Amino acid sequence: MKEKKEAKQFLKEFIKNKKLVGSVHPSSKTLTEKMLENINFAKTKIIVEFGPGTGVITKKIVEKMSADATLLVFELHKPFYDNLVEEFKDKPKVKIFNLCAEKLNMVLKENGFEYTDVIISSLPFSNFSKDLTIKILKSAINCLKHGGKFIQFQYSLANKKTLKNLFDQVSIKFTVNNIPPAWVYLCVKKQISSFEKKQI
Ligand SMILES: C[S@@+](CC[C@H](N)C(=O)[O-])C[C@H]1O[C@@H](n2cnc3c(N)ncnc32)[C@H](O)[C@@H]1O
Repeated sequence: MKEKKEAKQFLKEFIKNKKLVGSVHPSSKTLTEKMLENINFAKTKIIVEFGPGTGVITKKIVEKMSADATLLVFELHKPFYDNLVEEFKDKPKVKIFNLCAEKLNMVLKENGFEYTDVIISSLPFSNFSKDLTIKILKSAINCLKHGGKFIQFQYSLANKKTLKNLFDQVSIKFTVNNIPPAWVYLCVKKQISSFEKKQI
C-alpha cells in the first residue's frame, strides 16, 4: 500500500518538475539490490546518498548499515526532502540535507568527517549541464577515500565515457526489471600504493 502511495507521489512530483526528478517511478527492488550489492556494510562507516526521492534505496541502506555508521543524504526537491525528514526523524545517524549534491565537501566537514567510504547516486545526470555533472563528479571523487566506491544508476549509457575518464575502475551492470530499464555503474577511486604514499 505504502509503495503505491510513493509511486503516486513520485509521478506527481515528476509532472511538476521533470528535469529535477528525472524519472516517472521509484526504483525497483532489483535495481535497489544491484545498487547496494557491492557494499560491505559491516566495514562502511560513512555513507552518502545523492537523490533519494521517496527513499526506496535509502530505506534499504538504513536496514543494512551498521549501528555506528552515518548516512548523509542530499535531496534537492523540497517535497521529497520534507517526507524523508519525517520518515527518518527517529534515526539520528541518518542526516538529510535539502542541498545540491555538489555541497558534499562542506557537509562532510561540518559533520566532522574528512572522507566518505561510499556514494550511492541516483542523480539524473542526463538532465544536467555537462558543467554541473563534472562539478558534482569531481567533488564526489575528492570526498571519497582511496578505494572508495561511487555507485550510480542511469537510464542510458550517455555518461559512460565521462565516468570512465574520471574514475580508475568502472564496471557496468544492466537490469530490465525497472521502469525504465537501467544501467548500474560501479566506479572505484584509485587506492594509493604504499610507494605512492611515501612520495606525498
Ligand atoms: C531519478 S530520481 C531517483 C529517486 C530514488 N533514488 C529512486 O531510485 O527511486 C532522482 C532524484 O535526484 C534528486 N536530485 C536531482 N538533482 C539533484 C541534486 N543536484 N542534488 C540532490 N538531489 C538531486 C531529485 O529530486 C530526485 O529525487
